[in-house]
Amino acid sequence: MKTGKIIREFAAKDGRKVVLRTPRWEDLDDLLEFINSLVEERANIVRTEKVSREEEVEWLSRVFSRQEKGEMFCLVAEVDGRVVANSEIVKGRGYASHVGVVGIAVKKGFRDLGIGTEMMKTLVEQARRMGVKVLTLSAFANNERAIHVYKKLGFVETGRVPRKFFKDGAYIDEVIMTKLLEE
Ligand SMILES: CC(C)(COP(=O)(O)OP(=O)(O)OC[C@H]1O[C@@H](n2cnc3c(N)ncnc32)[C@H](O)[C@@H]1OP(=O)(O)O)[C@@H](O)C(=O)NCCC(=O)NCCS
Repeated sequence: MKTGKIIREFAAKDGRKVVLRTPRWEDLDDLLEFINSLVEERANIVRTEKVSREEEVEWLSRVFSRQEKGEMFCLVAEVDGRVVANSEIVKGRGYASHVGVVGIAVKKGFRDLGIGTEMMKTLVEQARRMGVKVLTLSAFANNERAIHVYKKLGFVETGRVPRKFFKDGAYIDEVIMTKLLEE
């Protein structure tokens, strides 16, 4: 898939135009700022350490190479020329090659505008195109907004790892959610 390919455009709940597209090299600094803003706000993601520009270059090169081989699909959301959300489907391998693992995050200041929902819908459509039959994701059990969005789009809780995360002095369960694309 080529870089910067526009997949969908829609209006956010505040009326701003959102472009969902594959990433391109010019997004590097936005993506770096994006991931580091999530780390800084201590969002409910696994990562706790900031990313260097070199690491981000390596990560983005790998995304392009894996995207090219059909091993993953990366989708960003652009508002006013800046990347404000990132998401991906990573395809499993071997006996799990029909499985896609989804990840998604929207930048602070751009949440609750419908962007996460539209991205997830687009990822589900893309997963079908990639031949994925089972989509799975993992969330912090206390991430009510994320779990609400996932349930709305047909994901159901299929597992739970007790005390998977330790944050701010408390354990938090990991919730595994699944959506079957072919019944
Ligand atoms: C979780 C996330 C991806 C959702 O994306 P988003 O763009 O904010 O989501 P949307 O605006 O499409 O939808 C938000 C929905 O959650 C609802 N919501 C907001 N806060 C909520 C809460 N505390 N509990 C339950 N639902 C909540 C909204 O009302 C809205 O519901 P609706 O569409 O039925 O009206 C985004 O908020 C995010 O990236 N958060 C921080 C990082 C993160 O948690 N990533 C997910 C890791 S698993």
